[in-house]
Amino acid sequence: MMKDDSQASTSIWMTTADTPSQSRLKESIRTDVCIIGAGIAGLTTAYLLGREGRSVVVLDDGLSGGGMTGRTTAHLTNAFDDRYVEMEKLHGEEGARLTAESHTAAIEKVSQIVSTENIDCDFEWVDGFLFLAPEHSIDLIDDELAASHRAGLVEVEKVARAPIESLDTGAALRFPRQAQFHPLKYLDGLMKALLRDGGRMFALTHATKIEGGSPARVETSHGPVVTSDVVVVATNTPVNDRVAIHTKQAPYVTYVIGMRIPKDSVTRALYWDTGDPYHYLRLQRENGYDVLIVGGEDHKTGQANDGQERFARLEQWTRQRFPQSLEAQYHWSGQVMEPVDGLAFIGRNPLDDDNVYIATGDSGQGMTHGTIAGMLLSDLIQGRKNRWEDLYSPSRIRLKSLPEYASENINVAGQYADYVTAGDIKSESELRPGEGAIMRDGVSKVAVHRDQNGDVHRLSAVCPHLGCIVSWNSTEQTWDCPCHGSRFSAEGRVYQGPANTDLSPVEEMK
Ligand SMILES: Cc1cc2nc3c(=O)[nH]c(=O)nc-3n(C[C@H](O)[C@H](O)[C@H](O)COP(=O)(O)OP(=O)(O)OC[C@H]3O[C@@H](n4cnc5c(N)ncnc54)[C@H](O)[C@@H]3O)c2cc1C
Ligand code: FES
Repeated sequence: MMKDDSQASTSIWMTTADTPSQSRLKESIRTDVCIIGAGIAGLTTAYLLGREGRSVVVLDDGLSGGGMTGRTTAHLTNAFDDRYVEMEKLHGEEGARLTAESHTAAIEKVSQIVSTENIDCDFEWVDGFLFLAPEHSIDLIDDELAASHRAGLVEVEKVARAPIESLDTGAALRFPRQAQFHPLKYLDGLMKALLRDGGRMFALTHATKIEGGSPARVETSHGPVVTSDVVVVATNTPVNDRVAIHTKQAPYVTYVIGMRIPKDSVTRALYWDTGDPYHYLRLQRENGYDVLIVGGEDHKTGQANDGQERFARLEQWTRQRFPQSLEAQYHWSGQVMEPVDGLAFIGRNPLDDDNVYIATGDSGQGMTHGTIAGMLLSDLIQGRKNRWEDLYSPSRIRLKSLPEYASENINVAGQYADYVTAGDIKSESELRPGEGAIMRDGVSKVAVHRDQNGDVHRLSAVCPHLGCIVSWNSTEQTWDCPCHGSRFSAEGRVYQGPANTDLSPVEEMK
């Protein structure tokens, strides 16, 4: 079992992967490239640069794979989740074509790495099927088919129904040559290859300060400093950027269940419906049976606290469509960053030194976006041209995405009203073990948690990023910020940015 993050739930991948044996950075070092974050984006970048002979150091404040890469459902797809119709509107026909080309290339790259490095990670080529949610009409399928073809995916076809015996989906789109894998076993393979090529990985090492320049400097929590020619911040959402990127992407929590079903009772493929939020499905084999993995029920981070109801709705949705479902064996959730124009931000960090790079804005496609990050950043760092550079540039502003930009930022501005509202509870005695809530304390707000032993922990409820008030996530036992998605353990330890410091302890209430 591999589990080292702050969330209470456990994904199927954590249950079925070994815990890597990694240690912390103990002395200051110099390297060519320092990469912060050992998820798919950081480790793919590290692996590809290591292959080219660059000396690479990877730092992570947990263990590798302890971030969202351990909580994904690992569909590897070029069936863009914001749709090619939308990509054309936002990025033009050429932008949509490059989007399709880059995601297709990312799937091929994963397949090539798996075979070159002989990584035993359940990699499998499968078809993907997009089918209609009840509220949508066939026009959506026809329009997306035409847009996919214009984007260069000429093998996408309309079929009479997705190959699900128990569910007549009606007409669907078939995307050939999609893939799936076990993300943590894949990361383990990348890590072994990186170490073989001379790369170094240090876990349990929090990057506290990141500065570009010559050399770049990364200060870490226990004192040692890494100096390098180049620094890559692959922390899922940048912890070195206070504002620029965070107004251009919005954090959403998404939920997953794993239902045990009889072996081979559902055709092995990736499936999505067109709902908003949409459902996403795939299969994973376990001893003697299959697990049908079903995700959806997304909401903006910190703006709902009803995870158990969302799991129940996912289960009901699944049982109605897959009556052979047995028990729900897995329940977990995670966070995705939704960029306002659908595409990840990969490249030089805006308003920073030229040798600081970021990869973020993964949306529901972080497996391919993370792999694209590896391909694109290794080209930029090695001084090569890459034709995806402008498409993914973190500095880009697409005028057509301004309505989405405005709506997400009005939502953020609205969160500051939490300063003047009452608390969720009036007295700590209202909290049962395992619960958390916000209390008003004079003019301040305090995040109060009662642990399973009955002891009460008090923290400032003010997010150290830009000062929004955090809220309690009872499913994951975390404090989540509704503004830009910083997340903290029940004890206040930061484990997802953009905040890069913990919630401050409050000794006594006034
Ligand atoms: C439920 C769910 C389902 C998903 N399904 C899919 C899917 O089917 N297909 C798909 O393509 N994508 C999917 N995604 C998205 C995808 O999983 C993510 O986008 C991707 O894993 C992100 O990878 P990453 O490398 O950017 O970040 P992460 O994997 O989160 O890695 C970032 C790392 O940075 C470390 N870190 C952070 N701050 C610091 C610091 N200050 N110092 C040191 N280390 C630090 C963290 O510990 C972490 O290990 C899904 C996501 C979720 C949550
Ligand atoms: S994440 Fe920006 S204020 Fe909390």
